[in-house]
Amino acid sequence: MKRSAELQLQTRLIGAANHASHELPPWLVADLRADHAGEAGAVMMYRGILSVSKDPHVRAFAERHLRTECGHLASIAEIMPARSQTRLLPIWRMMGWLTGALSALLGPRAVFANVQAVETFVDHHYQEQIIRLSAEGPFADVRQLLADCRQDEIDHRDEAAGLTMGNVGHMAKCWQVLIAMKFKVAVWLARKF
Ligand SMILES: [Fe+2]
Ligand SMILES: [Fe+2]
Repeated sequence: MKRSAELQLQTRLIGAANHASHELPPWLVADLRADHAGEAGAVMMYRGILSVSKDPHVRAFAERHLRTECGHLASIAEIMPARSQTRLLPIWRMMGWLTGALSALLGPRAVFANVQAVETFVDHHYQEQIIRLSAEGPFADVRQLLADCRQDEIDHRDEAAGLTMGNVGHMAKCWQVLIAMKFKVAVWLARKF
């Protein structure tokens, strides 16, 4: 909760600084466009879980994560030029909802295994961007924001992994590979369109 408040304050400061000092370079806008699409998908994934699951434990888990993802989405939206959103956003939102709802239909273990798979991908995705941004460079503040978001995703991944207790089965491992492949294509598309 404390981190969320810090994240929002930091976002406002970055937004003000970018506003004052011009546009972000195209490569960074492309990165943020993919991040924005991913966070929109994450919000919808947790909404999909909440649309289907009646399990109180799963619902509490999803509601908590949803609040964090809404914060991430607002933070990225605030620092990214509005006109730069991907045109594929409705598809990301629909795919996110379906991913959450389908896992919820299969039960709590599927929900946690799915979240573990998704957040593992997001952790690596943010890590690649953080490496591209220098800690002392002109976008060090954006880098810090992405690092804070990444830490939340790691917490989500680890919480989900703890709830599956490593007992995910062969199907779930295949699902993790499929998620990584699907998201790689989706990120590429969001960066381009
Ligand atoms: Fe997120
Ligand atoms: Fe997350």
